[in-house]
Amino acid sequence: MAQAQTKAKNVRDWPFTVRPLHPVLGCEISGITLEQAVSPALFAKVYEAFLEYQLIVFHDVDLPPATQVAFARNFGEVQVHVLSDQYGTKEHPEIYMLSNLNKDGNPSGKHPDKGTLYWHTDGSWRERTGQATMMYSEIVPDVGGETEFADMYSAYDLLPAAMQRRIEGRRAVHNLDFSRTRRHGEDLLTVEQKAKVPPIAHPIVRTHPETGRKAIFLGDHAEEIEGMAYDEGRALIEELNAMITPPERVYTHHWSPRQCMVWDNRCTLHRATGFDEARLKRVMRRCTINGDRPF
Ligand SMILES: [Fe+2]
Repeated sequence: MAQAQTKAKNVRDWPFTVRPLHPVLGCEISGITLEQAVSPALFAKVYEAFLEYQLIVFHDVDLPPATQVAFARNFGEVQVHVLSDQYGTKEHPEIYMLSNLNKDGNPSGKHPDKGTLYWHTDGSWRERTGQATMMYSEIVPDVGGETEFADMYSAYDLLPAAMQRRIEGRRAVHNLDFSRTRRHGEDLLTVEQKAKVPPIAHPIVRTHPETGRKAIFLGDHAEEIEGMAYDEGRALIEELNAMITPPERVYTHHWSPRQCMVWDNRCTLHRATGFDEARLKRVMRRCTINGDRPF
């Protein structure tokens, strides 16, 4: 718990209560409502906690979709996903629904996005990648359907020196079509959608634009490595994705309904765990906020 305690000591003049969720990352914020958290008076302090802990959670939040989009806008420009026709709602194309319910509100047996089951960071396939994601839990299953998070700052710091040298200055090509086809396998991107999200190269070691710390930027959307034979790049990506997500450095979030979480996509990877999509219900609502082009 050494690191969590160190982090707790860093709590400055924050007018809310912070409880670390894991020695590596994540905290719960209490003592203020989410509405207060995004108010001009408090948002700068909440944002400090977001940068320090990389993931913040609020409990017992009443968050209709319109309010979610409005709150997310405090963090920045909210993305309209290239698959918003499929996952967005008519009223709010910024909302990306992850639901396994059919029209009648019963479990359909179909996972809404199997790509979420593999380590990734949201929007890494865009030129301007995801800054933050705001996720709200409407309905959660009793078993499974957790979200796991891995810290990419320490992932970089703990890499063997030889591996740090190997990837220094290297760029990986991120490609939604690649990961979607490989992992989801159905409802693939149309020609028009592919044209909107061509493959894009980003540094494997990026500098967080606000904290200035180095972090690994990789995950499941990374297809190949520039200047490296395709198979060699694939093997290195797979090796790295496993190295940077050791179980002891992963925080697993067991959701309750009505939680609102915001995580920093620039210094974390995440993935969902599976659940019985034919028997249990899981309905999550997500907004992703656009960030910068990684450097
Ligand atoms: Fe995600």
